[in-house]
Amino acid sequence: MRSHYCGNVTETLAGQEVTLVGWVNRARNMGGVVFLDLRDREGIVQVVYDPDLPEVFATASSLKSEFCVQVKGVVRLRPDSQVNNNMTTGGIEVLGKELTIINAAAPLPIDFNTDVSEEQRLKYRYLDLRRPEMTAKMKFRAKVTSEVRRFLDDAGFMDVETPILTAATPEGARDYLVPSRTHKGQFFALPQSPQLFKQLLMMAGMDKYYQIVKCFRDEDLRADRQPEFTQIDIETSFLTAEQVMAETEAMIRTLFKKMLDVDLPEFPHMTYEEAMRRYGSDKPDLRNPLELVDVADLVKDVEFAVFAGPANDPEGRVTTLRIPGGASLSRKQLDDYTKFVGIYGAKGMAWIKVNEAGKGVEGVQSPVAKFLSDEIVNAIVARNNAEAGDIILFGADSYKVVTDAMGALRLKAGEDFNLLSGDWAPMWVVDFPMFEKADGRYYALHHPFTAPRDMTPAELEANPDGAISDAYDMVLNGVELGGGSVRIHRAEMQSAAFRVLGISDEEAKEKFGFLLDALKYGTPPHAGLAFGLDRLIMLMVGAESIREVMAFPKTTTAACPMTNAPGFANQEQLTELGISHIKKDA
Ligand code: AMO
Ligand code: AMP
Repeated sequence: MRSHYCGNVTETLAGQEVTLVGWVNRARNMGGVVFLDLRDREGIVQVVYDPDLPEVFATASSLKSEFCVQVKGVVRLRPDSQVNNNMTTGGIEVLGKELTIINAAAPLPIDFNTDVSEEQRLKYRYLDLRRPEMTAKMKFRAKVTSEVRRFLDDAGFMDVETPILTAATPEGARDYLVPSRTHKGQFFALPQSPQLFKQLLMMAGMDKYYQIVKCFRDEDLRADRQPEFTQIDIETSFLTAEQVMAETEAMIRTLFKKMLDVDLPEFPHMTYEEAMRRYGSDKPDLRNPLELVDVADLVKDVEFAVFAGPANDPEGRVTTLRIPGGASLSRKQLDDYTKFVGIYGAKGMAWIKVNEAGKGVEGVQSPVAKFLSDEIVNAIVARNNAEAGDIILFGADSYKVVTDAMGALRLKAGEDFNLLSGDWAPMWVVDFPMFEKADGRYYALHHPFTAPRDMTPAELEANPDGAISDAYDMVLNGVELGGGSVRIHRAEMQSAAFRVLGISDEEAKEKFGFLLDALKYGTPPHAGLAFGLDRLIMLMVGAESIREVMAFPKTTTAACPMTNAPGFANQEQLTELGISHIKKDA
C-alpha cells in the first residue's frame, strides 16, 4: 500500500512518484489549493492538491482530521521561500494525483491542542500515542531495548524467560494474586521480580542471564512507580560486586552514548552511611551542591532542649543545611519550609541568618541565637563555611526524622534557589545495612537473598544491626535506576537470614523450600542487578512521569480508563474458581 514513510520523503526523491499512507494531521483549503499534512510514524509530509483534477480535489476538500488515507503523487522541490528547515520533509512537497479515503474518522473526543486531563489521554491512548511527541517516546524506548539486547548479547548474556504465574517473590510490596481453577482456594502470585528464578538459573549453570521482563507490585503509586513495570534483569555467576557494577555501568554508558551522544561522567561510589549523612537520602541527587552538616557535638551542652536532647541521644541527630544567599528568605517562606519539613515529622525548623561571619551572636539573626554562645554560633557558621547573606537551617530530632526531613528540604531548596548544575549525575550507593528495624522486627533493606559482607551465619544472627550487605544501587539524578547484590549461596546463611527476618525454619521450608534445597547441590557464587527500564527511559527523555514512556500505563489508582480494568468477574467464573465475593455493604 505504500512506497515510503511520510517522514522519509526528502529531496532525493524529487521528480519521483510516491505512494503514502497515513493520517490527516491537518487539511486546509487555501483559496483553491488543498494543503494536506499527512502523518505516519516517521513524520509529516505536505501534500498539495490543486483543482486540475476536480474529482480528487473534491475528495481532498472533504478531508477531516485523523482520516486514514492513501495518497499517490509526485515529489517536487519547494520554492526557496517555502522551504521549512525545521522539518526533514521541509524541502519538498508531494503534488497529489490520487487520493483514497481508507477510513474516515469521527470528530475526536479530545482536542489535544487544549489542556487534556491525563485520564482522558489514557482513555483514548491510541489517539494520544498518534501525537508525534508520544510516538517519538515509543520509538526511543524501542531503540533502547534493542540496544540493551545488543549490548548484553555481545557480552555473553543469555535471554531466558521466567514464569509469570508463580509463587510469591518478596521484594517488599503486596502481591497480585491469580486464583487457580484446578487447585480451588489456591493462588498464584505474579512475580514482583524474577529474583528467585534468576538465582535458580545460576544454580542451573546458565552463568550469565538477562531478561527484559514485566514485574508486578501492588504498592502505592507515584510519578516513578507503576503496578506493572519493566526491568532489565541481570544475573551472573562467579563475578564480584565490583565486576557486576563495572559491566552494568558500561551498559548504561553505552546507552547514553548511542542514544543521546552523552559521555556520562565518573560514577562515584558512596557508602549508604555517607549518602544519608551528607545528603539525607539513599539516592542523592549530586547535581545539587547542598550538603547536610552535622553539629550535634557543638550543641550537646546548650540550654535549648530541642538541640541538646537529640545531640545527647545516640538515636538522635542534629544537622544543618546552609543555603547560599538564603538570608533573603522571608518569614512566610521560612514558615513554608517549616511546614514542608513537618510532612516528614519535624516539629520545627530553627534557622540562623548570617549577617557577618565570625561575629558570634551579634553577627547573626535567629530565633534560637539567645540559646547559643558566641563560640557555638561561630563554630556552626564556620563548619558550614557560611558567609554574609547565607542562611543555616536546623533539624534536630530522631536520626530518621531529621535525615528524611532535611534530605527532602535539601532537594527543595536546591530547586527553589536554582542550584542544580550539570545534566547528568550518576553514582553508585554501596554498603547498605542488611536490615532495617521497624515495629520491633527486622526487614531486609534489599531482599532476603542478599549476602552480608564478611560474616558467618552465626555472626549475622548475633549482630543483625551491624550487618552490612554486599548490595549496590545505581542512582542517576536522584532516581534509583537499578539495584542489586551479591546473593547468599549457602543454605546455612540463607536460613540464618530468614531467622533474623522472623521467618521460622518451618515457614522458610514451606515458602522457600525449593531454594534451600537447590542451595544444597553445588550452587555457584552469584550476583546480579535489575534496572527499572521505564525509569531509565523517563530520565533519558526528560519525562516528568513514568506514565509518559509506557504505551498503556495505569492511573495512580492502578486502573486502566481505556479497558476499564480491573473489572468484575461474572458469577460463572467465580464459581468455577471456587471464589465467593463479599459485597461491600453486606
Ligand atoms: P528492586 O526492587 O530494587 O530490585 O527493583 C529494581 C529496579 O526496578 C525499578 N522499580 C520500579 N519501577 C517502576 N515501578 C515500580 N513499582 C518499581 N519498583 C522497582 C527501580 C529499581 O531500582 N530483584 C531485585 C534486583 C536484584 O537484586 O537483582 C529487584 O527487583 O528502578
Ligand atoms: P520553640 O522553642 O518551640 O519556639 O522553637 C524555637 C525554634 O526552634 C523555632 O524556630 C522552631 O522552628 C525551632 N525548632 C523547634 N523544634 C525543632 C526541631 N525539632 N528541629 C529544629 N528546629 C526546631
